[in-house]
Amino acid sequence: METQKFSYDNSIVRAFLYATIIFGFIGFTFGLTAALMLFYPELPEFLFGTDDTTINSLSSGNIQGLINTHGAFGFGRIRMLHTNTVIFAFVCNIVYVGVYYSTQRLLKTRMYSDTLSWLHFWTWQFMIVATFITFFMGINTSKEYAEHEWPIDILIAFSWIIFGVNMILTISKRRVRHLYVAIWFYLGTWVAVAMLHIFNNLEVPLSFTGWKSYSAYAGAKDAIVQWWYGHNAVAFVLTTPVLGLMYYFLPKAADRPVFSYKLSIIHFWSLIFVYIWAGPHHLQYTALPAWAQAVGTGFSIMLIAPSWGGMLNGLLTLRGAWDKVRENPILKFFVVAVTCYGMATFEGPLLATKNINKIGHFTDWVIGHVHLGALGWNGFMAFGVIYYLVPIMWRTKIWSVKLANWHFWLGTLGIIFYAVPMYISGFTQGLMWKQFNPDGTLLWKNWLDTVTAIIPYFKMRFLGGLFYISGAILMIVNVIATVRKGSFQKEVPAEAPALANIGNKRKEGEGFHLWLERMPLLLTVLSLCTISIGSMVEIIPTLSLKKSVPTISAVKPYSPLELEGRDIYIREGCNACHSQMIRPFRDEITRFNGKNGQYSKAGEFIYDRPFLWGSKRTGPDLHREGGKNPSSWHYKHMYNPRSTSAGSIMPRYPWLIATNLDRSKMVDKMKLMKNTFDVPYTKAQIDSADQWANNQSAKIVKDIFSEANDLKEAYAKRPQGELEKK
Ligand code: HEM
Ligand code: HEM
Repeated sequence: METQKFSYDNSIVRAFLYATIIFGFIGFTFGLTAALMLFYPELPEFLFGTDDTTINSLSSGNIQGLINTHGAFGFGRIRMLHTNTVIFAFVCNIVYVGVYYSTQRLLKTRMYSDTLSWLHFWTWQFMIVATFITFFMGINTSKEYAEHEWPIDILIAFSWIIFGVNMILTISKRRVRHLYVAIWFYLGTWVAVAMLHIFNNLEVPLSFTGWKSYSAYAGAKDAIVQWWYGHNAVAFVLTTPVLGLMYYFLPKAADRPVFSYKLSIIHFWSLIFVYIWAGPHHLQYTALPAWAQAVGTGFSIMLIAPSWGGMLNGLLTLRGAWDKVRENPILKFFVVAVTCYGMATFEGPLLATKNINKIGHFTDWVIGHVHLGALGWNGFMAFGVIYYLVPIMWRTKIWSVKLANWHFWLGTLGIIFYAVPMYISGFTQGLMWKQFNPDGTLLWKNWLDTVTAIIPYFKMRFLGGLFYISGAILMIVNVIATVRKGSFQKEVPAEAPALANIGNKRKEGEGFHLWLERMPLLLTVLSLCTISIGSMVEIIPTLSLKKSVPTISAVKPYSPLELEGRDIYIREGCNACHSQMIRPFRDEITRFNGKNGQYSKAGEFIYDRPFLWGSKRTGPDLHREGGKNPSSWHYKHMYNPRSTSAGSIMPRYPWLIATNLDRSKMVDKMKLMKNTFDVPYTKAQIDSADQWANNQSAKIVKDIFSEANDLKEAYAKRPQGELEKK
């Protein structure tokens, strides 16, 4: 067959590579800022102004400077900026780097359409910038890793579809008959993420001209959909596409074939089948139906097998090439990455068992686990791919191998200084929460004692982050210097014969999987089916069975002011640090005001759109906080948490007291709840919403003034009714 000449498009790879590096740095900086704020909550005051005389503020604008930020730099928002930047902007962009580079070479063809490639690039980067702006402004849905509001969700879906169409059409014009394992992983990722993103983000906009929306699911149902998504964001964004990168770049860098083809087949199918079931392990002991929790645990334990199969396939690819690891920083990054993957996937199943989750959930143990995977597996795979590609694409040698080695060691030290303190902190906190005195009272009754005990570990984690980011800065210097001395090759000429048409039928002696590898559409459909089985078994019964969430007659819809309150809670990202889920443990019931054994029940959340159970408990649980502390305490606590709780690391929220509550959409919100979600508001209640809110706020203000004379006197000098408007 006649050979055809064509060229590979390197410029799209370069664009994604630059985006990875820039957003990686921004994402790490957000992480470092969040880490700093956890032991120096005064950071926003230091930057913008304060009335706290003990703080040497950079700005002389007193507290007004902080008020003017309207919470843009609050911990809740910085945290979601961090998680979204590292996941959607750092990891996704490096995945695109790998996919665009390797797909062209593996299939011996240029991407199907340059226009689609660039449309994908720009829509994705635009989405990230839109995320930054909206999150800083407090526009978010609160659902972890899916905090984007509905217009951005649509943009993500659009960009993802463009990506998939381009990839599938590229496969259709390939010049290599069989798809290599990396491409199975890319296809599996694409179908899974499309499904997860669409179903978890089903939400109803309050209006088509505004940002605000409410989840299509409520309470326990929202929780299961969210963690089906959340866990599989880990599976199909942080894991499967990165495994695709491992299968392409590790053998390339080591100049060795993949250890076992058979193992890669078992690895791929079992991983995507098992992963999708494991989501409920994020909701152990919560108000989720017990059967779903058990399924989550069972499948998580099974996950060890395919995960370790993949890890071994990666590590054993290096057999006979270990001497190269000593000299080659790229291989060093890959080896530590795959090892961290192995550790995280051994730890994850342990964390998923009920006995261990009881201690680890809501604590820093989970944060340690996350970053072992994120810094080690995701970060180090990304760095390895960058060090591999830059010299090739700029046709030169890396500027400094020594600097790359320094990056490697700083990064490794960073992982250790991050993960180890988090494990100690997680154990410390998890155990302190549970200790009782012989007389049956809690040993650590004051929540803050369990927080101040772990501050030293927060400081060590900051140091870890600093090491990690310093390493990344060395990489940036190295990349810039290499790019400057090299010459970039935009178009890489290649040639290969076109594929002969041999028909779709299986040939004699052709193994089933080998045949499947030349049937991309069938492979994609089979992946979708494999992923859908677990999804349907878990989600459909939970969503459709009425009895999966027993109703409680005492549970009434939220008042209009409470609806607004929930929206403020979401806006400020309070759920980043507070849970609203008292698990059925003696210590939690005692500590969190669960009188008469009242742990949280599924029926209590039927009006919660979205659910706000939280996943990290830096502050105490708030489900039964209402009525526990006086209203004046809440006023002072929001103004300055350190005035009511010395040593607290909660941020200040003075703008809540300085700005009037915007009630302009309050009635629309009630109408949406009633008309779309059948919340039983009466017409009279909706018509008198403003009066209802006035009465409730007047009652709160009355309580505040009767409890706190200082506040009564302070407000006596101001216009009447001012506080009621806040
Ligand atoms: C310089 C490096 C980094 C630092 C200092 C850092 C720091 C932090 C901090 C302080 C938190 C909040 C913890 C809490 O609320 O108690 C966090 C959360 C998180 N980070 Fe990082 N991070 C870094 C890199 C990364 C990377 C590279 C990724 C992913 C690829 C990542 C993924 C996450 C995720 C998913 C969470 C949320 C965890 C959860 O909710 O359980 N981080 N990080
Ligand atoms: C066999 C594989 C794995 C299993 C079974 C597993 C299991 C778990 C469990 C049980 C939790 C704790 C839930 C909780 O109590 O809150 C968790 C959290 C988490 N894991 Fe894994 N894990 C695995 C691998 C990984 C890997 C490789 C990564 C990173 C690349 C990762 C990232 C995360 C993240 C980001 C969270 C935090 C989610 C949140 O609460 O916001 N996991 N995982």
